[in-house]
Amino acid sequence: ASAQLAGQSVAAAPTAVAAPAATFTILFGSQTGNAKHVAQDIGDAASAKGFAVKVQDLAEYKAANLKNERYLVIVTSTYGEGEPPENAISFYNYLFSKKAPQLPELRYAVLGLGDTSYEFFCKTAQDFDQRLAELGAKAVIARADLDVDYAAAAATWQQNLITTLEPEFAKTPAASAEVISWPGATQTAAAVSTYSKQQPFSAELYTNQKITGRDSTKDVRHIEISLADSGLSYQPGDALGVYFSNDPALVRELLLLTGIAADTPVELNGQRLTVSQALTDELELTQSYPAFIDKYAKASQNAVLLSLVADKVALRAYLADRQIIDIVREHPALINAQQLIEALRKQQPRLYSIASSQAEVEEEVHLTVGVVRYDAFGQPHLGGASGFLAERLAEGGSIKVFVESNNNFRLPENDETPVIMIGPGTGIAPFRAFLQERDARGASGKNWLFFGNPHFTQDFLYQVELQNYLKQGLLTKLDVAFSRDTAEKVYVQHKLLKHAAEVWQWLEQGAHLYICGDGARMAKDVHQALLTIIQQQGGKDEKAAQQYLDQLRIAKRYQKDVY
Ligand code: 2AM
Repeated sequence: ASAQLAGQSVAAAPTAVAAPAATFTILFGSQTGNAKHVAQDIGDAASAKGFAVKVQDLAEYKAANLKNERYLVIVTSTYGEGEPPENAISFYNYLFSKKAPQLPELRYAVLGLGDTSYEFFCKTAQDFDQRLAELGAKAVIARADLDVDYAAAAATWQQNLITTLEPEFAKTPAASAEVISWPGATQTAAAVSTYSKQQPFSAELYTNQKITGRDSTKDVRHIEISLADSGLSYQPGDALGVYFSNDPALVRELLLLTGIAADTPVELNGQRLTVSQALTDELELTQSYPAFIDKYAKASQNAVLLSLVADKVALRAYLADRQIIDIVREHPALINAQQLIEALRKQQPRLYSIASSQAEVEEEVHLTVGVVRYDAFGQPHLGGASGFLAERLAEGGSIKVFVESNNNFRLPENDETPVIMIGPGTGIAPFRAFLQERDARGASGKNWLFFGNPHFTQDFLYQVELQNYLKQGLLTKLDVAFSRDTAEKVYVQHKLLKHAAEVWQWLEQGAHLYICGDGARMAKDVHQALLTIIQQQGGKDEKAAQQYLDQLRIAKRYQKDVY
């Protein structure tokens, strides 16, 4: 069997054997696609060895099947304050419930993807690991918790896993007629293009238009990018991955503060380039992370930073409101170019929810980008990708992009199904895509949009389009919450509560619910408002309301794209 034949079949046993096949089940809990891709890589490598492999989204996995598994791998990220990613919630709840079976026959392995900047680094992976052991399952190899720059470590872990299992699988007959569910297999459109996260497409920027008013506290851009000749395609709900160049002024200042000449050669991932090129295009400068402080403190022998490294709580607080440049400005030190390069993280592409439908815009992709811009420590600060898109990339310039599909944020298949969309701020993006799509399809289902932002006159994103959709009847209802136009703040959840009876009616008619935008507060408050509505209108207690929402999530009628 070939590693590249994902989605085909696995090596079939030449003779029919009666013994049960050992299927190697790989599940992923993924919000941004990273855990999904790692799971697929493990699946490819395992099937190349002749293992019968099943790779599956945790949202699709039938938890009741757990007791039949013999080999199980879970690759998962962690979200928010140690919570499972959206697509893993149901499985997570099942595993921690009384319903979870004892699993003495199960051999398992857990791989965690996370970000060491967060307090609850890889918490969900740790929880899965601990719980599976508690249920009697035996770990094949130890769990690994990987930081943002995980590629090399993930490959090593995968290699270790497969080497360990190979002798056992050699003894067990491979399944011949196993149905294999590859997440990529259903996304035929995206698979046509050769462009990916590893090999992004150099696209042309068509349009960069500010869509907040002159007096707005926010700077939001409507971005249009050409996908012509890329073969890339996407569906409403997908995201666009974007690479960017750092601000040259920032790079110059960093080099000045560390006493490094811009053309000093360095080595990065086995390649030679100048330190200036590496800082501009390859490394993260507009965030900060513990590994930087650790390495920079050691390279510079700075006593303050060295003591900070030893105090995790103080370190997190220190990092929370600083970019790399703030740290180096506070503690300039003469270090060498290679030391600086090795202290920095590799640039991770930023994902933006796509704001267009190809049914409407064909070979273009549109984004709604909130520009990260603030003053701190007496200096202006600008976000990496949003700053690049808004200020440094001229129209006609080129930007590296790829499509990241998201099967957990999809319009209902049935065009008659009503949808309720809650998308304040830039959370409007995927709903513009949904509306374009439903318009183009002539979908007859009702559409209800909740939008919010600070001020009606400054921040009503896509106002003309939305009001036209309302006039035309595509939007059945449009409710807006302009939080700072009134003495008391009005948010989208208040608008939901105001229309509780009708929201409930829509839900009982089978409506799908979608939330996009801020995950730290907005999505939680909206969730709470929904629970209140279900209790009040459905005459349920809190537990029954919770179950009602759980059921909606399991039925894929309650989907979130939050950040
Ligand atoms: P505010 O900034 O005036 O507080 C998009 O960012 C909109 O979401 C803004 O109007 C913002 O209001 C609002 N917002 C902030 N916190 C929110 C929350 N917890 N729930 C709902 N909306 C919120």
